[in-house]
Amino acid sequence: MLYYIVTDLVLCSYTVKRGRRKVMYPTRQEAEALLVDAGKCNPGPWEDHSRVTAHCAERIARACQGMDAEKAYVAGLLHDIGRKFGVKHLGHVYDGWKYMCRLGYDEVARICLTHSFNEGVLEGYIGKFDITAAQTEELRQALGRIELDDYDRLIQLCDSLAGAEGVMNMEERMLDVKRRYGNFPQSKWDKNLELRAYFEQKTGADIYLIVEDGKQVIAEGSKENERNSND
Ligand SMILES: [Fe+2]
Repeated sequence: MLYYIVTDLVLCSYTVKRGRRKVMYPTRQEAEALLVDAGKCNPGPWEDHSRVTAHCAERIARACQGMDAEKAYVAGLLHDIGRKFGVKHLGHVYDGWKYMCRLGYDEVARICLTHSFNEGVLEGYIGKFDITAAQTEELRQALGRIELDDYDRLIQLCDSLAGAEGVMNMEERMLDVKRRYGNFPQSKWDKNLELRAYFEQKTGADIYLIVEDGKQVIAEGSKENERNSND
């Protein structure tokens, strides 16, 4: 616990004024360091899944007018950061949201909160409700206050495209989730297809063509990991 508090306090100082506005998300390098640190606490395929999500988000945001590709990358990289605190289902949403709030990264915190609910409601969660009733209510109220924006939608889409080994066919990825969790509501499935159509309309291109090279991201992420562990 003390380790987390000290790390949080150190990382808090990274919330700085970049350009003309005070941004509430870390730089790309800071986000990568947060992911590496989290991976040491709870190693797993979620780390590479996060890198692939970030890659997809950056590519798609770059193809959309008015979206910040750096913010999209950081949001994708940290959307599952709550997994730092152990193997949990809904708990990872709660932990990630709280962790990013503690660091002052509110724009990432909302992504941690919204990424699992493409229909905008808590009831749409597929996994176990492994947090307390009070925490569940806290999440429900916070989610209710958010009007989903294009960054929320983008990370929901990319989460459904990103496997741990690279970009996946969206339907295969949803079938994989269905196999692992035993359930995938049709409305949630349809919403993901709707999100893909939304961003294809915005970019005017096939999403799979925009996000190609996902495997390269894993290779680069692993090299980065090696460099960090040799430091
Ligand atoms: Fe994810």
